[in-house]
Amino acid sequence: MAGKVKVAVVGLGFGAEFVPLYQKHPDAECYAICQRNEENLNKIGDQFGVERRFTKFEDLLKIDEIDAIHIVTPPAEHARMAVLSLNAGKHTACTVPTGLAKEECIEVVKARRKSGRVYMMMETAVYTREFLYARELVDTGKLGKIQFLRGSHQQNMSLPGWPDYWYGFPPMHYATHALSPLLAISGAAVKSVVCQGSGTIREEYAEKYNSPFAIETALLALRNSDLSCEVTRSLFDTIRQYRESFDVYGTKLSFEWEQIAGEGPVVYSGYEDAERVEIPDYGHRLPREIAPYTIHGVYDEEHEHTSFVQGAGHGGSHPHLAHEFIRAIIEKRESYVDAERAANWTMAGICAHESALKGGERIEIPLP
Ligand SMILES: NC(=O)c1ccc[n+]([C@@H]2O[C@H](COP(=O)([O-])OP(=O)(O)OC[C@H]3O[C@@H](n4cnc5c(N)ncnc54)[C@H](O)[C@@H]3O)[C@@H](O)[C@H]2O)c1
Repeated sequence: MAGKVKVAVVGLGFGAEFVPLYQKHPDAECYAICQRNEENLNKIGDQFGVERRFTKFEDLLKIDEIDAIHIVTPPAEHARMAVLSLNAGKHTACTVPTGLAKEECIEVVKARRKSGRVYMMMETAVYTREFLYARELVDTGKLGKIQFLRGSHQQNMSLPGWPDYWYGFPPMHYATHALSPLLAISGAAVKSVVCQGSGTIREEYAEKYNSPFAIETALLALRNSDLSCEVTRSLFDTIRQYRESFDVYGTKLSFEWEQIAGEGPVVYSGYEDAERVEIPDYGHRLPREIAPYTIHGVYDEEHEHTSFVQGAGHGGSHPHLAHEFIRAIIEKRESYVDAERAANWTMAGICAHESALKGGERIEIPLP
């Protein structure tokens, strides 16, 4: 590979967030974009000035100049496209989850091993400001020994306006935002899971995926670790402000996510002592050109105002994700969320849903 890593972004809803990041990253370029609807394709192409535009994913695979493909299509397409991309010799990034079945996740791991190319699941929850802060508390020894971790992802997708495939989606089939901070901070993989379903969603949603529960709550046993974690997911017919949260309890400090958005997380340093903390942004870890995307907006010096632009969402995680993917390719190493880790995180959710449907039976996570 000579010069910059040439990336094609496929799927331009959420995927459009990453176009400016590859354009600005000093080691990358956004070489091409792809999505099915030509009108929207041209809109994004014109907005960001990307010339090479495709409506068929398969056409990208034949273009030798493309080094890497970043897949941001609906979940049912992730594993199929990732396997095709890896088999075509492309480094492959894919939004969460890795797949929707255990077999799909294992296929991705096999394709990654066979191709020798980089695979990265682009998990926003392990690059947010809050995550980087909590991991720093652990890495610097300030938190002491970890004793327990808890995560949640509560969203109400009952409302109209989402793409059709979401309605009735099993909550634990999209659990990586709640699971991954716990697993990344503990440094352990999931060994087995038990999960209970609670409540019931409306009939017309429940029958779509044969998934009846309003809430699914799982207990994860970790491999080679004395820790277990608790994870809660809800998607329909349960009211709460949106939240993707994690809590970490240690022997010296504990970190808890905010109750109401905007309050800020709390660090506990004693039985009586609690302090809301202001989380720094972690732009200093990134190249200067994309560092501003770790904050909510980008300051425009010429017009002297801060604008909220595409590329700066999900706790400032997007530029870190793009950077890790590109650096893994250049440094010829595995990405942090490589295929095996991605498969474990994704399969833990898939197995949790299976457990809930079987009334809480313990399910072992396959080793791919
Ligand atoms: N925090 C996060 O990590 C996060 C946030 C939002 C979305 N996502 C994930 O990103 C994915 C996309 O979400 P979205 O909201 O943009 O979905 P969407 O359904 O609105 O958009 C999907 C895009 O993929 C394109 N597409 C679908 N099938 C295609 C095909 N066969 N070939 C080429 N293009 C195809 C569509 O044209 C569209 O541009 C989902 O899997 C979602 O879970 C992750």
